[in-house]
Amino acid sequence: MSLLQIIHYPEPVLLAVGKPVNDEEFDPDLADTIENMFETMVDAGGVGLAAPQVGISKRFFVMDVPKNGASNKLAFINPEIISVEGEQIGEEGCLSFPGLSQIIKRQMRVIVRAQDLKGDTFEMDLDDLAARCVLHETDHCDGIVFLDRMTSLKRQMAKRKIKILQKTGKWE
Ligand code: NI
Repeated sequence: MSLLQIIHYPEPVLLAVGKPVNDEEFDPDLADTIENMFETMVDAGGVGLAAPQVGISKRFFVMDVPKNGASNKLAFINPEIISVEGEQIGEEGCLSFPGLSQIIKRQMRVIVRAQDLKGDTFEMDLDDLAARCVLHETDHCDGIVFLDRMTSLKRQMAKRKIKILQKTGKWE
């Protein structure tokens, strides 16, 4: 296992639509990449990490939003949002935007369909932080970053802050 390099905004891979993982790609290499992504995510203190954030323009992500206080490692390959419900407003961060967090409005509940490491399809009904995370990471697979989910005022503020962080060398 090894730590992967986390790509920071505005690298083009973060803004590109990821390619689907096709049937032949469900192999030990994919399993290794996903294990490395878990390790990288935990090392960076995140709860979710999508393939484009480690420079892979594909549709998959890992997340670990603790459930009843216990770790809950999940991998979603070719995720698809089936339905959403409600609303939540809360603070959100992104490992590709180090040092930046913002209040973002998201749906409260999500039903997501995806494939597991064996290629089997599953559906999951999630709410609260887990729903927020699935929406955020599925966005990454679509080349959408959380800046795009901010109000225009907050986006301007965030972009200004990014410029300052870049100038001070805190954004590599
Ligand atoms: Ni992110």
